[in-house]
Amino acid sequence: MPISELLTVPYRYKRVLPDFQNRDDIRFPDTLVAALLDRFTKPGDKVIDPFCGLGTTFFVCEEKDRIPYGIEADRQRHDWVKSRVKTKENLLFGDSADIVSFDLPEMDFSLTSPPYMPHWHEWNPLYNGDPRYDGYDVYLERVQSIYAGICRVLRKDAHVIVQADNLTNERFSTLVWDLGKALSEVMTLEGEIIVNWSENVENDKQFTQCLVFRNNMNL
Ligand SMILES: C[S@@+](CC[C@H](N)C(=O)[O-])C[C@H]1O[C@@H](n2cnc3c(N)ncnc32)[C@H](O)[C@@H]1O
Repeated sequence: MPISELLTVPYRYKRVLPDFQNRDDIRFPDTLVAALLDRFTKPGDKVIDPFCGLGTTFFVCEEKDRIPYGIEADRQRHDWVKSRVKTKENLLFGDSADIVSFDLPEMDFSLTSPPYMPHWHEWNPLYNGDPRYDGYDVYLERVQSIYAGICRVLRKDAHVIVQADNLTNERFSTLVWDLGKALSEVMTLEGEIIVNWSENVENDKQFTQCLVFRNNMNL
């Protein structure tokens, strides 16, 4: 069944930011992760966040008795999260494009917010700005190939959620729609959950979007 839903959750963070990070919009609120875990997983499920960042998925999984796994390419963020979680061995430092080589067990669910890129930027956040990989098309191809790898460690029919926003700084950039199109080449796009923040919204951003995919190895 296609998914087209509105989910209302408070915009609330549990942990203070590390000193090296000055903006909350690098991470998603714990409240959203909790609501999605309740909806799509059960205790004991293995959950992978391929862009682990400041570890929100990881922390909330531990609170809810899910088994977290994460990959993070930034050493400082990786070390900060690792020093605060219980299942340290499941947090990997590296590039999520190499996921298949990490020898992970079969995952039941994936949730992340990938690094954002507006279509008119050249700087590709998935290659840390290496100029050999400039450009939005390269970015979308890279996200697609990373998710092709993630599908190989997910059980068949597992849900995959990608949280993102269409970008409204300076110019409108259709990031959510472009991610939906690129990723539906490697997974089945079931639909979207529009998340309405019920309180304490930063930057006047009243909502965000979660694309809901299913791993379909037949694609
Ligand atoms: C938007 S943040 C994720 C935030 C996370 N959801 C949270 O709540 O803390 C995206 C993260 O992806 C990381 N990243 C970028 N490219 C990566 C790659 N190829 N492999 C793994 N991590 C990567 C960045 O360093 C950044 O921390």
